[in-house]
Amino acid sequence: LISRAFRHQFIIPDWSGFTKHIEDFYWKCKSNSEGKVASYIPQLARMNPDYWGVSVCTIDGQRFSIGDTSIPFTLQSCSKPLTYAIALDRLGQEVVHQYVGQEPSGRNFNELVLDYNKKPHNPMINAGAILVCSLLKSLIKPEMTLAEKFDFTVNYFKKLAGGENLGFNNAIFLSEREAADRNYALGFYMREHNCYPDKSNLKEILDFYFQCCSMEANCDTMAVVAATLANGGICPITEEKVLKPDSVRDVLSLMHSCGMYDYSGQFAFKVGIPAKSGVSGSLLVVIPNVMGICTWSPPLDPLGNSCRGVQFCEELVSEFNFHRY
Ligand code: DON
Repeated sequence: LISRAFRHQFIIPDWSGFTKHIEDFYWKCKSNSEGKVASYIPQLARMNPDYWGVSVCTIDGQRFSIGDTSIPFTLQSCSKPLTYAIALDRLGQEVVHQYVGQEPSGRNFNELVLDYNKKPHNPMINAGAILVCSLLKSLIKPEMTLAEKFDFTVNYFKKLAGGENLGFNNAIFLSEREAADRNYALGFYMREHNCYPDKSNLKEILDFYFQCCSMEANCDTMAVVAATLANGGICPITEEKVLKPDSVRDVLSLMHSCGMYDYSGQFAFKVGIPAKSGVSGSLLVVIPNVMGICTWSPPLDPLGNSCRGVQFCEELVSEFNFHRY
């Protein structure tokens, strides 16, 4: 880092000029009072709607954060691209996509629907993510107990995050499991259609899915995860090669087309960068070969995306030409 600084070779040469803009966007979005905190899981409903944080990490490890960036939140759907990445990296694209599609569903994230092949549409919605959990459980080291598989997954997430804080929120996990009628319905519906490689362990698969949703991190940590994805799978903080570039390419392709619930098409059109949102109000944003960003603000729009997070992305691309096209 230091030798690059002396040589003026940073990916963002005028860092203080850039972060000044990030601060401006932050304050602009802070006054946005739209949206409602997710209420379908009681523990999530208690979130303070005023929380608002933005963290940035470039592929050469420059970092900036503003607002509530050290308060942990549960990953929720932001875990979906990560479990999908592990599955791709360990099993390869052909195996993973025998079980799950690549098509936006055009429906809500928890809709009881499969595609015309009777596969879940993509790994970014609940059905697809539950299926990906079954691949992790049944096809990668199937001899592992659920406890060992949880550790295995946490270790991957930690490596993506450069070893930074990553926890587990047991209250959310229990609350999630209590309020999971729809996910159970999805789980059984997929079993009826023989979607899983092994259908004998559905209860464990769903528990594993709830556990992935209940992992906890803050904006600073998740910005490093996004930066690892921006950097082709090499963590910019530790320089460890965590994922293969091919796996990262697949993850980003589906984040681009399916990462923002049923707003994905509009987001891809207006903002044009891969992103993934979660119901706790987090938003992972990846600007390939440049930086990762995580924003967090609990109030969600009617489609389930963080209102301040979406506004922030729109501000960002109106000032900088990060849109892929
Ligand atoms: O499965 C659920 O109900 C949630 N915990 C999913 C999380 C989420 O962010 C919705 N996603 N696509």
